[in-house]
Amino acid sequence: MANEQNNFAELISHCKEYGYIFQSSEIYDGLAAVYDYGQNGAQLKKNIRDQWWKSMTQLHDNIVGIDAAIFMHPTTWKASGHVDNFSDPMIDNKDSKKRYRVDHLIEAHAETLPEADGKALIEQMEALLANDDYLGLKALIEDNKIACGISKTCNWTDVRQFNLMFKTEFGAVASDNPDDNMVYLRPETAQGIFVNFLNVQKTGRMKIPFGIAQTGKAFRNEIVARQFIFRMREFEQMEMQFFVRPGTQKEWYNFWKEERKKWHESIGIPAEKLRYHDHAKLAHYADAALDIEFEFPFGWKELEGIHSRTDFDLKNHEKYSKKKIQYFDNDIDPATNKPYGNYVPYVVETSVGLDRLFLTVISLAYAEEKWTKEDGTEDSRVVLRIPPKIAPTKLAILPLTKKDGLPEIAEALMAECKPHFHCFYEEKDTIGKRYRRMDAIGTPFCVTIDHQTKEDNTVTIRYRDTMTQERIALADVKKLVLGKIS
Ligand code: GAP
Repeated sequence: MANEQNNFAELISHCKEYGYIFQSSEIYDGLAAVYDYGQNGAQLKKNIRDQWWKSMTQLHDNIVGIDAAIFMHPTTWKASGHVDNFSDPMIDNKDSKKRYRVDHLIEAHAETLPEADGKALIEQMEALLANDDYLGLKALIEDNKIACGISKTCNWTDVRQFNLMFKTEFGAVASDNPDDNMVYLRPETAQGIFVNFLNVQKTGRMKIPFGIAQTGKAFRNEIVARQFIFRMREFEQMEMQFFVRPGTQKEWYNFWKEERKKWHESIGIPAEKLRYHDHAKLAHYADAALDIEFEFPFGWKELEGIHSRTDFDLKNHEKYSKKKIQYFDNDIDPATNKPYGNYVPYVVETSVGLDRLFLTVISLAYAEEKWTKEDGTEDSRVVLRIPPKIAPTKLAILPLTKKDGLPEIAEALMAECKPHFHCFYEEKDTIGKRYRRMDAIGTPFCVTIDHQTKEDNTVTIRYRDTMTQERIALADVKKLVLGKIS
């Protein structure tokens, strides 16, 4: 475990060194739990998002995509239950004044115990959380002598709830009551879909069952934000709400549970690194919920949530907006031989954090490798084995020298390939150094243009994962790379 933690620290510095992820506002010492994506990170993130978007909206005939605003009418969050329920139980250490999320504090302690004891502690915690038993949670912390990491004391306040939504002022209207101009930064993208249910259903003439997908920023004032981009205060979600006939939600929940796990495998996440975790405590809107967990370098954690949200959201938006949000189903109900008629649809939601998926991809890809060469000397490299179809740069085009007409051939190859996929051109440094840099940013293919190219129109293609090389026709490069990334 200690080794993996070290490896994780190295992954974080690699992400910075190779233009993947920077601390936000770093020149001002950063902003906690907020990160910027650099030139390679932004492209990898876009490629993952594009894969998700394509799988949802292009490969499913009955799912369409939207892009709703981040600002929403504040009543949205009353109706969704976030104003009253979107909070986490917290506890403060009276000596250090440091605030902890109760579940994180107990989980961190459980990780230090022998496996069976840790498991028992987590089970006790989950039972108390399921019953909102805050006195019991405090007692559990005290009985287990769980101390604050800073003060090292067990001098705790009572457990209290803190709302996680950010507020801001909207418009320039002066008012004595600051709440008049107050809006929230959305804590989930889902509500933008719910409030547009009828707009999309009617204008798209959508027939149930159908889905609405969207990707976009969400904001949560996480009290304990940690583990790099795993838990951030500003992050991106990719959510899909699937609207179904009441009574069929269990079947669709099972369908999406399988479908989403398969999708993760399709982008290169090994099946053995994924597992399901059923929720012990259901959110206020759900009649069933589970996480698809991934084995991160710091343990098994939630990657995606699958939630059967019942008709909670649409019904509450009906109630608060006083507008009818219903669907007329003219399919025949075999029980009555009449159309199913009007109803508020049920919803099965799939919700994955794009940043968390990015962390999944990059932590699987990162490898520090050492080997002995044929001449007996040692060699090493750091490589990002990102699956070619999502790698930020697909092909590096490297003329062996800056003269003899080699750059011109390389530039012509760039012009041929770059309308189809991302290429990178470099003529500086030895070819070995250039290969190592491409390994470090995860470029799956390098093509070297050398003097033989001028004679027989062939090039050397080098494969990142095996480091093997072969000679192929210059004219076949584009086709070969397209074949590997499709
Ligand atoms: N609409 C349902 C919803 O938002 P959630 O389980 O709170 O459910 C869904 O969040 C997903 O969003 C999580 O599985 C996780 O991948 C991601 N996520 C949630 N909070 C996050 C945070 N603070 N930082 C990064 N990703 C987060």
